[in-house]
Amino acid sequence: MKISELKKQNFSAISYRAALPSAVIISVFAFFLLYISGTAEPKKALLFSVILFLVVFLTVYLISAHLHTRRFNNLQGIIKNISKKKFRDYHKNPEELKDELDMILKRSVRASDTVSRELTRLNKIENYRKEFIGDISHELKTPIFAIQGFIETLLNGAIHDKEVNELFLKKAMRNVNRLIFLTNDLMEISRLETGELKSNIKDIYLRDVVLDVVESLQYKAQEEDIEIRVKDFEKNLQVKADRNQIKQVLVNLIENGMKYNKPGGYVEIGISDYKISQGRLLLYVKDTGIGIEKKDLYRVTERFFRVDKSRSREKGGTGLGLAIVKHIIEAHGEKLFIESTPEIGTTFSITLSLSNPVLV
Ligand SMILES: Nc1ncnc2c1ncn2[C@@H]1O[C@H](COP(=O)(O)OP(=O)(O)O)[C@@H](O)[C@H]1O
Ligand SMILES: [Mg+2]
Repeated sequence: MKISELKKQNFSAISYRAALPSAVIISVFAFFLLYISGTAEPKKALLFSVILFLVVFLTVYLISAHLHTRRFNNLQGIIKNISKKKFRDYHKNPEELKDELDMILKRSVRASDTVSRELTRLNKIENYRKEFIGDISHELKTPIFAIQGFIETLLNGAIHDKEVNELFLKKAMRNVNRLIFLTNDLMEISRLETGELKSNIKDIYLRDVVLDVVESLQYKAQEEDIEIRVKDFEKNLQVKADRNQIKQVLVNLIENGMKYNKPGGYVEIGISDYKISQGRLLLYVKDTGIGIEKKDLYRVTERFFRVDKSRSREKGGTGLGLAIVKHIIEAHGEKLFIESTPEIGTTFSITLSLSNPVLV
């Protein structure tokens, strides 16, 4: 929208206020000059003064109105629009700054842009917050209702049957554990999203981190009949990263590789050598699992998105793992890639910055 298209107002009070005193002063002065000097009779002097009054008044009014009215109206229009929360693109008029009024106009257009941008940003945050709270309550409901159901059944008499009693308590416990995983992941993601959790980036030995994580997951892997393979890692290879956060990324990716796998399958962790370039390496976690269809690929890093809800729940998933991974990787200024073929397997890769690019 052009500033000039804003509502027009014909009467200019400011021009009137400038014209009136000028016309009065000049005509009174002229009257006395003519009268006192005796150049004209009082009647003629009066008539001349009245005509002079009208001429001066009109001239000053018109000049002032021409100079100010349009711009004052524009200014009023912009401010009115701001107070009505209407933000237009004013094409950054006026380009040429002739006086203070142009400066104020330019500043008010800038103010309108800033308020508009800020409001859009706040609305986005607010929508995000609402959505997040909605998702959380939905996720909390399922295990809480399940626990409630088991306890109710026990209280209704099942508690006296030892077998049922133990089974139900175990099921209730599994749901309690789910709540614990969920609250832990929620705390983590909210700290990442609010920027409270800063990455403490240092030079770390990648091989140590990978081996640490793999060791902690070995027991689970055996339970699920999945083999974890670690490709050769150069012992002294160092990358710039937050040790704990990279561990968490690896835990989430390897756990997924096991959860969404088939018995007898494997998860492999290694470095793609062909991608070592520009001071970065590509660390991959590859599995022989169920894979992800193309249409779901871009959604798996969304909070609470799961391809198969019941499978994820059954395996203790919260739907937050990959969202956390993505946040951590982005906070490191690195990238996450996902490639997958349904029924064949999935490869998650992350870039990491080398501490000593020259040595590699
Ligand atoms: N390696 C994988 N193979 C197949 N599907 C996967 C893999 N990793 C993640 N997914 C899909 O992406 C979804 C989101 O993953 P994630 O955020 O870790 O949540 P979850 O808690 O369900 O594991 C999973 O529910 C699953 O459907
Ligand atoms: Mg997961």
